[in-house]
Amino acid sequence: MEKIMVETSPPLKGKVRTSGAKNSALPILAASLLGTEDIILEDVPNLKDIEVMCEVLTSLGAKVEILDKGIIKINSSNINNYVTRYELMSKMRASFLVMGPLLTRLGKTKTSLPGGCAIGTRPIDLHLKGFKALGANINSDHGNISAYAERLIGDKIYLDFPSVGATENIIMAAVLAEGETIIDNAAMEPEIVDLASFLNKLGADIKGAGTSTIRVKGVKKLGGGVHSIIPDRIEAGTFMVASAITGGDIIVENVITSHIKPVIAKLKEIGCQVIENGDSVRVIGTKNLKPTDIKTLPYPGFPTDMQAQFMTLMSLCKGTSVVIETVFENRFMHVDELKRMGADIKIDGRSAIIQGVDNLTSAPVKASDLRAGAALVLAGLVADGVTEIDNIYHIDRGYDGIEEKLSKLGAIIYRK
Ligand code: EPU
Repeated sequence: MEKIMVETSPPLKGKVRTSGAKNSALPILAASLLGTEDIILEDVPNLKDIEVMCEVLTSLGAKVEILDKGIIKINSSNINNYVTRYELMSKMRASFLVMGPLLTRLGKTKTSLPGGCAIGTRPIDLHLKGFKALGANINSDHGNISAYAERLIGDKIYLDFPSVGATENIIMAAVLAEGETIIDNAAMEPEIVDLASFLNKLGADIKGAGTSTIRVKGVKKLGGGVHSIIPDRIEAGTFMVASAITGGDIIVENVITSHIKPVIAKLKEIGCQVIENGDSVRVIGTKNLKPTDIKTLPYPGFPTDMQAQFMTLMSLCKGTSVVIETVFENRFMHVDELKRMGADIKIDGRSAIIQGVDNLTSAPVKASDLRAGAALVLAGLVADGVTEIDNIYHIDRGYDGIEEKLSKLGAIIYRK
């Protein structure tokens, strides 16, 4: 099995461009099932998860063509299959996002239940609550879940938690439903706004994306269009932490700075200089890293997807930092690996107490999920010796060319 090796690296310097957002591209690819004409997506990141979603679309009867680097053409005019195979669902939870589009386009959908994963049980009750409110019948047996409806009719849906996936799935189901759907306590993430703006280009009528109330007026049919995926705010944040932790000076390009406000605020609290300039952000590290506290929250709060990377950084801040994870129940799998590298972290329920240490030391470690993997790469940049990271397929699921990009900034990182 291939591993990523990271050696003690000099302070990172230079410019790096953020790729398109994985968590925008995945629902937008799923939403492409709703279009009846050609769709061109630009700035699609080159990732394992994107490959899997393209496989899912193809298995449902869509034509998917890679036109160039980052450019994908999809034609879903003849989709004919409403069943997502277990083998694809088990590769990636986000495959569940095709349920909403299939239900509204074909009147039925069937898939295997996604099951748990390394960051928690991750139920899908809110997705199903939305489908039921629109009039779907839901059945679950033998590990499968199916939904069908002769017609979907818009309704008011209140989400008990602003789930990103449930908001996306319900929007996608509602675009072709009869009448108006109102989603209250909807997720407000930038990826929801990107999905809505894509669907509106295809002819949907969605208002309020980015606020907690989203209104979707059903239309008869969606056409095609061209859409560019927004930059990946989590990839950008990960590079920003790489600059901070190595005492570097890097400029991250292709960033929407309003999407990364909490990351910018926390890096400043830690003592870094962060200079925003249009669609780029410069992060200058410091030798005197100060402790801080973080509580993960739905957008616009601090993103859970940056929690692990910040924990690596906090391990080297002088003093005590606290992280409270409120979004996922079990997102501390990176802690034991960081401890093997010399970090001093204690877990108490959903809180982690991090006592800063003077340095980290290399060790063979395992990525338990995508962001945990990124946290270990960051630790490797400053640990003395060679850090060997296993289970790197997690990293490849969400970071487009991570070692090329970090190498260009001066990091010593390679595969073996
Ligand atoms: N939840 C429920 N019921 C549901 C759905 C969610 O209780 O029906 C709970 C989950 O168990 C979790 C919380 O709500 O505790 C948040 O889950 P959410 O549905 O918002 O997350 P998601 O849609 O499954 C997306 C991203 C994640 C990111 C979260 C939160 C994609 C493909 N995934 O997941 O990204 O952490 O939103 O921002 O968009 C990653 O990129 O590493 C990643 C895990």
